[in-house]
Amino acid sequence: MAEKSFKYVIVGGGVAAGYAAREFAKQGVRQGELAIISKEAVAPYERPALSKAYLSPESPARLPGFHVCVGSGGEKLLPDWYKEKGIELFLSTEIIKADLTGKTLVSADGKSFKYQILIIATGSTVIRLSDFGVQGADAKNIFYLREVDDADKLIEAIKAKKNGKAVIVGGGYIGLELGAALRINDLDVTMVYPEPWCMPRLFTSGIAAFYESFYANKGIKIIKGTVAVGFNANPNGEVTAVKLKDGTVLEADIVVVGVGGRPLTTLFKGQVEEEKGGIKTDGFFKTSVPNVYAVGDVATFPLKLYNENRRVEHVDHARKSAEQAVKAIKASEEGKSIDVYDYLPFFYSRAFNLSWQFYGDNVGDSVLFGDDNPASPKPKFGSYWIKDGKVVGAFLEGGTPDENKAIANVAKVQPPVANLDQLASEGLAFASKI
Ligand code: FDA
Ligand code: NAD
Repeated sequence: MAEKSFKYVIVGGGVAAGYAAREFAKQGVRQGELAIISKEAVAPYERPALSKAYLSPESPARLPGFHVCVGSGGEKLLPDWYKEKGIELFLSTEIIKADLTGKTLVSADGKSFKYQILIIATGSTVIRLSDFGVQGADAKNIFYLREVDDADKLIEAIKAKKNGKAVIVGGGYIGLELGAALRINDLDVTMVYPEPWCMPRLFTSGIAAFYESFYANKGIKIIKGTVAVGFNANPNGEVTAVKLKDGTVLEADIVVVGVGGRPLTTLFKGQVEEEKGGIKTDGFFKTSVPNVYAVGDVATFPLKLYNENRRVEHVDHARKSAEQAVKAIKASEEGKSIDVYDYLPFFYSRAFNLSWQFYGDNVGDSVLFGDDNPASPKPKFGSYWIKDGKVVGAFLEGGTPDENKAIANVAKVQPPVANLDQLASEGLAFASKI
């Protein structure tokens, strides 16, 4: 068996891997010290583009246009960059076995990789309807979206089923972003989800009401409170209809499913401590196994601000956790220490001409403020979350860069607030004066 040996190995070649590579280069990494092993065929890229500009019918984003680190305003790391830095990229290489005691990884094509320090950056995979036995869920033209290959297959189907009918299963991030993308591609879109309103993990009913009306105005039909229980297919095996639990049957040429993600920790099961579905780390992203770090979607880390261990499945944390882990590795090699990770949660999304940002924690009471009329030419509204008399979270649709900075600051500073009615009427002005 071919064996290769590196000082540092990153398993996974997504967002966190790319930002880790840049940090290694900044801190000084020698030729041949670092390897990235990815089952994808391309160098690390900004995954959020896949559900947005990549699906645009006009001048869509394509690689190499969105390799990391362009998403945060940095230099684009093209495959040549890794070559110049002497960082080895093993692409189309899936690790199928990890031995953390023997410090060895084995790939599906029979390569063996030895490391001194391992960074686990395997991210998440999609939850499939077939995982819970939904009948007919393996029909053709039922899509999931995680990697660039998935997006390419979806684009082929959009071309083949021009002006056809699309059903979106799920009302979370993928549901809302893909519902918009398919509508922009002139498909007739219906969304289905079990909850009383979309994105219940984050949105209040007030926030969701805006997006649901906005989508309805764009011609998207929304069916709530039920789930897909089966699919019909034609003799070619292509999906033709989605059967719902409430008995409704929806015709469909294309189905996109976004019913959640699952962190990819299976390789390391039983070898490393886990918590809340992820690999448990400290504030430097060190796991319970010496010289093994975990970053991005797979890490359950101490969120200092809330004194609680959490997992975060968003790109800002993937970038920052990767940078923190590499800084910690380099500092410990020099006998130095760095501050623990002190993260302010930040999530965002874009769909149609809408764009929102959220900072902090969505717990406690909430107030809605601003112009949340979906028919306004430029709606701008938001929400604050208030816990123990302090503002702990803030959401803003349609904010300018300065306004987004102001809501981030509020979530970080956590100012006291006595009167919720007054807070609602002050709205954005409250954040701007902090
Ligand atoms: P990521 O998933 O980026 O990378 C993991 C990598 O590991 C992949 O390349 C995978 O192939 C590889 N891998 C896994 N197992 C392996 C194995 N055994 N061997 C080799 N390689 C292996 N967030 C946000 O804040 N705003 C947004 O707008 C979006 N938009 C968005 C769109 C879409 C379509 C998705 C799927 C996700 C988002 N996100 C997002 C979430 C964000 O992209 C996500 O949190 C980060 O990509 C996580 O980065 P990681 O590096 O942890 O995983
Ligand atoms: P999600 O957790 O955001 O949403 C899952 C949704 O699936 C739920 O809200 C629910 O409506 C629905 N659901 C659950 N079971 C269902 C069923 N049986 N039938 C129909 N609907 C069902 O997950 P997602 O939207 O699939 O996103 C996957 C991952 O990608 C997540 O990690 C997410 O954070 C990430 N992502 C993030 C962004 C962003 O931050 N802008 C964008 C896209 C994807």
